Amino acid sequence: MTESAALPELPELPQERRLVTEVPGPRSRERMERRAAAVARGVGTTLPVFVERAGGGVLVDVDGNSLIDFGSGIAVTSVGNAAPRVVARVQDQVARFTHTCFMVTPYDGYVDVCEALNRLTPGDHEKRSALFNSGAEAVENAVKLARTHTRRSAVVAFDHGYHGRTNLTMALTAKSMPYKHGFGPFAPEVYRAPMSYPFRDPEGMTGEQAAARALDVVEKQVGADQVACVVIEPVQGEGGFVVPAPGFLAALQEWCTANGAVLVADEIQSGFCRTGDWFACDHEGVVPDLVTTAKGMAGGLPLAGVTGRAEIMDSAHVGGLGGTYGGNPVACAAALGSIETMEAEDLNGRARRIGQVMTARLQELATTYDAIGDVRGRGAMVAVELTRPGTLEPDAASAAAVAKACHADGLVVLTCGTYGNVLRFLPPLVMPESLLDEGLGILEKAFASLG
Ligand SMILES: Cc1ncc(COP(=O)(O)O)c(C=O)c1O
Repeated sequence: MTESAALPELPELPQERRLVTEVPGPRSRERMERRAAAVARGVGTTLPVFVERAGGGVLVDVDGNSLIDFGSGIAVTSVGNAAPRVVARVQDQVARFTHTCFMVTPYDGYVDVCEALNRLTPGDHEKRSALFNSGAEAVENAVKLARTHTRRSAVVAFDHGYHGRTNLTMALTAKSMPYKHGFGPFAPEVYRAPMSYPFRDPEGMTGEQAAARALDVVEKQVGADQVACVVIEPVQGEGGFVVPAPGFLAALQEWCTANGAVLVADEIQSGFCRTGDWFACDHEGVVPDLVTTAKGMAGGLPLAGVTGRAEIMDSAHVGGLGGTYGGNPVACAAALGSIETMEAEDLNGRARRIGQVMTARLQELATTYDAIGDVRGRGAMVAVELTRPGTLEPDAASAAAVAKACHADGLVVLTCGTYGNVLRFLPPLVMPESLLDEGLGILEKAFASLG
């Protein structure tokens, strides 16, 4: 086992790309061999470099390379890695107490986070929140609450949706490989409806028309009075950063209200400033009944929440919700530091600015490379979908080749999408603009290398 050492006072990490070896370097390669012998094969690796330090918008590996981070650990370190306010609050909390179990003896941090969630999530109705460890767990609990509140069992999810890897959330997730393949049987009473996907939908299809198409499937195949909840990512994450056509979410909200079903907005990837507003639903003034949160909320520590209408949240009996670690005090301290950073540094404004810079450069790139079929996203949640020129045929090979070239050149990018043909960009919102520009330059070079 690696020995723990006394923590030195660490200087701030220079916000720069610096390559001193090939990527991955020899030390990372050696560690990858150790990893293969010790870690289960099913846990994948996007970029085989071992990280030693990270700060702001860079990751520094064990070979001394400083990489530009366009992934934020999958939309988590929105406030930057090791953000000062997060570090300070976590250090203070971890020295006071690390755990009591909130269900045994409560503490302020949990209540503070719930109050912040109740304040920041869409709508000014009376709300309650409950905290969990992971996004999947939050989604599971939102479904539990919707079922106990409505006394119905059917759950509607969407094509291309991703909600996690537990049994119920695997059922809600659309894509088989790698998330579900061989892991069934899955939870029953989950039904899938078509998503609004403007790039792939018939030209000119409006959000209202896409919603009518989805709701027709629900009414015919499930029955409106059987639906406990409709679970939707307001901007899809793993499914390919799909932004539904305007009016789609509002139509779902209206249908849920009219039919006594609960609208659950899964804002786990899109929430907490990522899209340039606190929540993606805010852009269209949609007020969901329940909102699930995780990822960006706690600056890198595991914390998730369900927030929503008091009458739904309070519908579960005492003891019906919880878990040993849910709302751990250290994770709550991190969330408070993270939310404080978002407010103090106007990270919504930063996300919008990043979105403008990225989208303009990517649209320019799309005029040169006809493999780029679509540039889309909202705020600092931006993607390009690669297709065979002039068609909708997915081009996953080019997406993988561009990602590989970026990695070799010191830029961390991620792919996603049902067809694996989407390159997504999620930089920490505190990334200096010079680093953002440099990262986009590397991306342009990677496209040029496609030939
Ligand atoms: C929209 C959405 N929901 C749920 C999850 C699952 O979260 P976790 O990995 O924390 O369980 C994710 C993770 O990527 C997500 O993007």
